[in-house]
Amino acid sequence: MADRVVTGETIDAALPAMHAVTSRLTPVVWQHPGQVSWSARYALPEDLQHGPVRVFTDAGGPVGWAWLESPTWMEWCVDPAYPDLAHEAVAWFLGSTTESTVRTSYLDTEPHLGTALEAAGFVEEPDVWFVQHTLDLADLRPVPDVPGYALRAVRQGEAEARAACHRGSWSATSKVTTGAYERLMATPPYRAGLDWVAVTAEGEMVASCCVWLDDVSGIALVEPVGCRPEHRRRGLASAVSLAALHAARDAGGRTGLVRPRGDDDYPEPGRVYRGIGFRPGPRTHDLVLHRA
Ligand SMILES: CC(C)(COP(=O)(O)OP(=O)(O)OC[C@H]1O[C@@H](n2cnc3c(N)ncnc32)[C@H](O)[C@@H]1OP(=O)(O)O)[C@@H](O)C(=O)NCCC(=O)NCCS
Repeated sequence: MADRVVTGETIDAALPAMHAVTSRLTPVVWQHPGQVSWSARYALPEDLQHGPVRVFTDAGGPVGWAWLESPTWMEWCVDPAYPDLAHEAVAWFLGSTTESTVRTSYLDTEPHLGTALEAAGFVEEPDVWFVQHTLDLADLRPVPDVPGYALRAVRQGEAEARAACHRGSWSATSKVTTGAYERLMATPPYRAGLDWVAVTAEGEMVASCCVWLDDVSGIALVEPVGCRPEHRRRGLASAVSLAALHAARDAGGRTGLVRPRGDDDYPEPGRVYRGIGFRPGPRTHDLVLHRA
C-alpha cells in the first residue's frame, strides 16, 4: 500500500507524476505519457471539463493516479503491484462527481482495474472497444512515395496549419484549435520532429500523424492520425504514419504502439495500422455504473 497520497492536484500540476507512472508501466497499462499529454492538451481548458487528479505515491515515487477527465469519465493508471490503490481510485472517482451515470475503461492486461470496478458495481458495456497494436520498429517498412504529396515533420510556429489539418480530418466540431495545439507542442513528450504531415504541391497539410516517444520505455505511441476526406484512400495515412515512426526509430524508439477501435462499427483505422505492419494485442473494456 502506498504510504502517502497527494490529493486535489490540477491536471497541469500532476502531469509530471502521471508521466512518471505511465512511462514505467506502458504498454502493460493503457496509459502512455503521450496519451496523457494528448488527453490533457488536445483542447483549451475552457473547452473541456477537466477535473482534479489524485496521485498515489509511495517512498519510491508515484505508483498510480486517477483523473476526473470529465464529470462522467475517469482516466487512470495504477501499478499492478498496488491493487488496493485501484479500489481507492474507484472510491475517489465516485466521491468526486455527483453524476448518476459514470464510466471508465481498462485494458485486458490491467485485471486489477477490472476487479476494482466490478467490486464497486460497474458493468461492462459491450459496444465500443479499442485494441492495442504494437510493431517492432526494427521491422519498420520503408516509407512509400505518394505521387503529388510530400511528407515532412511539423515545424515550430506551424500550430495554426497543423490544427486546421487535424480539424479537417476529424470533424468540424473538433476542439483542436490553434491555441490548443500551441500548448500541446509545449507539452512533453511532444517533439515536432515526430509530428508528421503530408502536404500538397501548394503546401497545404492534408494528412497527419503525431508520434509520442517515451524515452524510458522506447515506446512510440501513434496518436492521432488523420487525412482530409478529399485526399483519402491514396495511402497518405499509411505513408505519414510510417514516416513519423521512422523518425521515432531514428530518435531511439524501439516499439510502435497504436490503439484503434476494435468493434465492428469503425474498423477502417485498424486496417490502416495492420496494413503497415502493426499486430493486434489486448483490448479495452468500457464499464458503466448507474447510481441513484
Ligand atoms: C482512417 C483514416 C486516417 C484513413 O486515411 P487514408 O489516408 O484514407 O488511409 P490509407 O489510404 O493509408 O488507407 C490504407 C488502408 O486502410 C484501409 N482503409 C482506409 N480507409 C478505409 C475505408 N474508408 N474503408 C475501408 N478500408 C479503408 C484500406 O485497407 C486502405 O488500403 P487500400 O486503400 O489500398 O484499400 C481517415 O479515414 C481519417 O482521417 N478518418 C478520420 C480520423 C480517424 O479515424 N483517424 C484514425 C483514428 S485511430
